[in-house]
Amino acid sequence: MRQTFLPYNLPLIGDEEVAGVLKVLQSGWLTTGKRAQEFEALIREITGARYAVALNSCTAGLHLSLLALGIGPGDEVIVPDMTFCATINVVIHVGATPVVVDVTRDTYHIDPDAIECAITPRTKAIIPVHYAGQACDMDRIMAIAKAHKLYVVEDAAHSIGVTHRGRQIGTLGNTTSFSFYVTKNVTTAEGGAVTTDDEALADRIRRLSLHGISRDAWKRYSAEGSWYYEVLEPGWKCNLTDLAAAIGIPQLRRMPAFYKRRDELAARMTQGLQGLPGITTPRGRPDSSNIWHLYVIEVDAAKAGISRDELIEQLKKRNIGTSVHFIPLHRHPAYRPYGLSAARCPVAEEVFTRIISLPLYPKMTDQDADDVVEAVRELVTP
Ligand SMILES: Cc1ncc(COP(=O)(O)O)c(C=O)c1O
Repeated sequence: MRQTFLPYNLPLIGDEEVAGVLKVLQSGWLTTGKRAQEFEALIREITGARYAVALNSCTAGLHLSLLALGIGPGDEVIVPDMTFCATINVVIHVGATPVVVDVTRDTYHIDPDAIECAITPRTKAIIPVHYAGQACDMDRIMAIAKAHKLYVVEDAAHSIGVTHRGRQIGTLGNTTSFSFYVTKNVTTAEGGAVTTDDEALADRIRRLSLHGISRDAWKRYSAEGSWYYEVLEPGWKCNLTDLAAAIGIPQLRRMPAFYKRRDELAARMTQGLQGLPGITTPRGRPDSSNIWHLYVIEVDAAKAGISRDELIEQLKKRNIGTSVHFIPLHRHPAYRPYGLSAARCPVAEEVFTRIISLPLYPKMTDQDADDVVEAVRELVTP
């Protein structure tokens, strides 16, 4: 058994991130400025999107996207059941009605057939979630959106750098929001960004992220700036600091190396878990690349001789941290007023009772991955 605890997730912070943060601290300009602009340029380069707005979270990106698209009371927005609460909270915060639909059985992405069934004359937008580092069926989703004149606000919290049929996520829907929270593949500790090809939308999102103040408000205290500004609409405050961007810039540059390592670790674990009764290793989508944000196995208790919950507990006792992505929205008391239920999303409910996210991140050694495999193998006793 492992002697030390293997956390479910750890960021990989190198000398460049440390040096970058120190430089910003010493520069005297700590908040949104040149580093945040550089971070945005890198995101544009990676995604191919014409505009990128750096924010302090993906949640802010989704929220401001809905606001900028004019979605509000009386509108319905379709979201998948298998997601983080942020995806539905933003719909509620703009005063719209969330309509929660089921996911596909194989990869837990929003089910395009379920989207079609949920459309009403009040539907205004779909929020597809590119779960676990693979893209949703964007061809179908964009076709549905076009046919019904709906906006597509992509939740790519898990998926910076993912391609759908060779095209980068970040330019397909009206906006795409990325997360750089500490557990994500690329981090700024807390952070996010929105990409879009629509200049007006990008400008509105940027303005809403800075109190609704007129353009380039961040320059106010710089040599090029002026003291005068106008508030054009009441906004929020969710800009990304240069301190955070200084962590994110080298992270984005090292992304290909991070992803190569994630690939290697995923292949090693899948190989190690092969043939284990009652354990299903993650399934890939033929229409998407996989950046292995999560490594989600399914446990069939009857065949594995151990339940999902017990396996989580026993792994913890063997010094292996795990997580579950996600507790479906229908299980949370906060969303009861919206008519969610297990009966309406039976696939998400069934999947939830079986899934475990095992540790998988570039900081792990081959031995760490082998320890995870060995512990699961020991505990599965058909
Ligand atoms: C699917 C999904 N959407 C949105 C978010 C929110 O991201 P952030 O913490 O950057 O606001 C998360 C974060 O875990 C997520 O998993």
